[in-house]
Amino acid sequence: MELSEDCRLANQAESSSMSLFDSGSTNPFRAGFDNRAFIMGFPRKFPPRNEMRFSGSDEYVSTEDLTLAVNAAITLQRPLLVKGEPGTGKTMLAVQVAKTLGVPLLEWHIKSTTKAQQGLYEYDAVSRLRDSQLGDLRVQDINNYIVKGTLWQAFSMDQPCVLLIDEVDKADIEFPNDLLRELDRMEFYVYETRELVKAKNRPIVFITSNNEKELPDAFLRRCFFHYIRFPDKETMERIVQVHYPALKKSLLKEAMEVFFEVREVPGLKKKPSTSELLDWLKLLLAEDIPPEALRAKDRKTIIPPLHGALLKNEQDVHLFERLVFMTRAKGA
Ligand SMILES: Nc1ncnc2c1ncn2[C@@H]1O[C@H](COP(=O)(O)OP(=O)(O)OP(=O)(O)O)[C@@H](O)[C@H]1O
Ligand SMILES: [Mg+2]
Repeated sequence: MELSEDCRLANQAESSSMSLFDSGSTNPFRAGFDNRAFIMGFPRKFPPRNEMRFSGSDEYVSTEDLTLAVNAAITLQRPLLVKGEPGTGKTMLAVQVAKTLGVPLLEWHIKSTTKAQQGLYEYDAVSRLRDSQLGDLRVQDINNYIVKGTLWQAFSMDQPCVLLIDEVDKADIEFPNDLLRELDRMEFYVYETRELVKAKNRPIVFITSNNEKELPDAFLRRCFFHYIRFPDKETMERIVQVHYPALKKSLLKEAMEVFFEVREVPGLKKKPSTSELLDWLKLLLAEDIPPEALRAKDRKTIIPPLHGALLKNEQDVHLFERLVFMTRAKGA
């Protein structure tokens, strides 16, 4: 469905700033902790939620089942729980959905020490004590010491936004359980100020997980689930083209074959994924490695140049070298 004029303008404005703020944290579009700068410069009207449809983007290749899952989560107004191998585009998905829908993105990156409460708010008692000792008048209003977390910021937005809770499995097991009510009812209570914070607009929530920990059933019940399968060759080619549109077909073909052969080596501890392939191609291009350097009568008898971009630990490198050595010995 067509986006409104304001939204289209917003998309245009954003795409022009995107190249400047490629890596994310300094991009006003990825609102992060302080989103005022972003909101100030942004049109106020957004498409109604039922008109929000994701259909991939120029920068992100979305398969049919992934697109379906994103739109199902938007319709159901439930968080989309995205799992998949590292580097298969889980985080990038939320960034791209926000970008194509023309809505702000708020990101909450979870660490092993993150507590659910930090996403809601924190009461800064230390500053309040210090201010009281200094005779600062601010001390009389407790609101001055309530620090809003990412969820609160998302709930107070005047327009729908995308909220990314990235790598939920890094936190301890209680973390997802502690967010059940907040994600379900999109509200929480601030005990210090006796205030109920309710989402003005339900955010579109993306939750990513690398499967390091099992998530509780009660949490899963509240999510729509999608597993990003490792891309097949054709999808991978499309992904590479998005990142390197000018890449020569011959180099792409050879590199893809080497990459999928490396992935198939039995017993690898860490199979290279999409992001490793993209890094490797970047190096091949930077070093001006010709396709012939990757080509051999039997490709299994050469160690690919710059293989450090693909294999990330010494056991895998040794395993691969042994395999190449054995194949060569057999051929001799
Ligand atoms: N479908 C895709 N289309 C375009 N680029 C992609 C796609 N999938 C992955 N990439 C690229 O691969 C890289 C890694 O993506 P991203 O960081 O989103 O992966 P991830 O699944 O979140 O990884 P991790 O689990 O390690 O956090 C990015 O540069 C991204 O642009
Ligand atoms: Mg990620």
